[in-house]
Amino acid sequence: MSAQIDHNRVFVFDTTLRDGEQSPGATLTSAEKLEIARQLARLGVDIIEAGFPAASPDDLAAVQRIAREVGTADGPVICGLARAVERDIRTCWEGVKDAAKPRIHTFLGTSDIHLKYQTGITREQALDVIRKSVTLARSLCPDVEFSPMDAGRTDPQFLVEVCALAVECGATTLNIPDTVGYVTPAEWGETIASLIAETPGAGPGSGVVWSVHCHNDLGLATANSLAGIMGGARQVEVTINGIGERAGNTSLEEVVMALQTRSKYYDLHTQINTREIMKTSRLVSNYTGMNVQPNKAVVGANAFAHEAGIHQDGVLKNASTYEIMTPDSVGLTQSRLVLGKHSGRHALKARLSELGYNVEGDALNQVFARFKDLADAKKTVTDADLEALIADEFHGPEDLYSLEAVQVTCGTMGMPTATARLHHTSTGETFVYAAVGTGPVDACYKAVDAIVKAPNTLIEYSVHSVTEGIDALGEVTVRISPSADDKRSFGGYGADRDVVVASVKAYLAAVNRMVAVMGLAGQKPEGDSATVGVQHAE
Ligand code: KIV
Ligand code: ZN
Repeated sequence: MSAQIDHNRVFVFDTTLRDGEQSPGATLTSAEKLEIARQLARLGVDIIEAGFPAASPDDLAAVQRIAREVGTADGPVICGLARAVERDIRTCWEGVKDAAKPRIHTFLGTSDIHLKYQTGITREQALDVIRKSVTLARSLCPDVEFSPMDAGRTDPQFLVEVCALAVECGATTLNIPDTVGYVTPAEWGETIASLIAETPGAGPGSGVVWSVHCHNDLGLATANSLAGIMGGARQVEVTINGIGERAGNTSLEEVVMALQTRSKYYDLHTQINTREIMKTSRLVSNYTGMNVQPNKAVVGANAFAHEAGIHQDGVLKNASTYEIMTPDSVGLTQSRLVLGKHSGRHALKARLSELGYNVEGDALNQVFARFKDLADAKKTVTDADLEALIADEFHGPEDLYSLEAVQVTCGTMGMPTATARLHHTSTGETFVYAAVGTGPVDACYKAVDAIVKAPNTLIEYSVHSVTEGIDALGEVTVRISPSADDKRSFGGYGADRDVVVASVKAYLAAVNRMVAVMGLAGQKPEGDSATVGVQHAE
């Protein structure tokens, strides 16, 4: 008896940890990647593209860890990316082979532009490279995906030839990327439909899965992906919050909620547990330091907010007047409990658990102390406040330094001065430094720099208030870069009632991430660990 194939099922291939991590500034530590992979598994994605193992030994190790710890028999397929070269493919296999369901994803640019300017090979030579690389990948792994990169600008006849060859050599998934976000929805739907119809050995019933991977350069990624699905693709490649190269990739939450909200129209479904969407979005945003724009579909802060009087009136009468999906369906729960200064640990724990955070023991004590402090200053503590506290408390698991205390003096007299006390988490030592800066935040950052000794340039600093009112929590996001030559950048997030403290936390989170990813031990400050030094004004 043959297994029943569900033709209406769309497989969700999440590439947050590969294409998403290629976003400027989204560099993650391997512990953060593992945590995100675990959350993606809870979200119910079918395939996790865990990274690009040949990129560096750290990338390989991160993919191996995800393969072993998340790639269980009932978990998702764990996939690694490899250029169409032997070394990449073999390294990729080393990365994914311990997963219960491993996949190798190999790719080659097939447009004339890529052949001429990037690889400098002819179409014939490209076919030869594809033959060798897909054959090698298939000899190692039973599940092989091939992508003709820049398919959106590849000659359609050549694309058919390429896809047919990849299938002949053992590819089980054909992923068709619009690498530069060039195509339009109607055109893309037709391209996918005709590829499926015209590629020998890859039509319906062949067992080959067709996939789409659309970039967002013209803001059309979601529309193009849905058009590709309508054209017959049954795998969609996406990232959380749509992060990815340049203007990003297709966002998981948009495609999944479109298929669910308009299920009568599409007659298709995914296995995503949509109630995990908000939590996954926040986790990725916190770890990558990439803020979600407030008006972002599905996960933006305003996605379920109603401002105009007539809209508020309608929503109060019946939410369906202005809401096409419920906040609950994406995991945005509304509190029935009002938390304030009289609320106890139990109520806080219950609320956090409703929001999807199971916080216990010491961690709960820490959050409770922060909650009490906030509740003393604010009448009610909102869900947004709790989310900010959680994000602030539980950042990167590999932090080298933690902030013990910071004190600033500033005002109209000039010479803003800050003293920072940091704790070295592996040696247990404490370092104190005082510095003068151009303003209080600059002085704090100088004091932190003097202790951590990890040179960097601050390339972005933003501060927001979590809720309205003078007593609101302030949240700060920063992005730093190791040097002008190193294109990588590292994000950090901090929240506190005092924006200077939030600024230091955010900066330290980014510095910790940079130190962890770059393998810098963070040179030990000179002097004994009690008081390290004072930087005097020039
Ligand atoms: O955008 C692209 O073409 C890619 C491929 C590696 C699939 O990310
Ligand atoms: Zn891509």
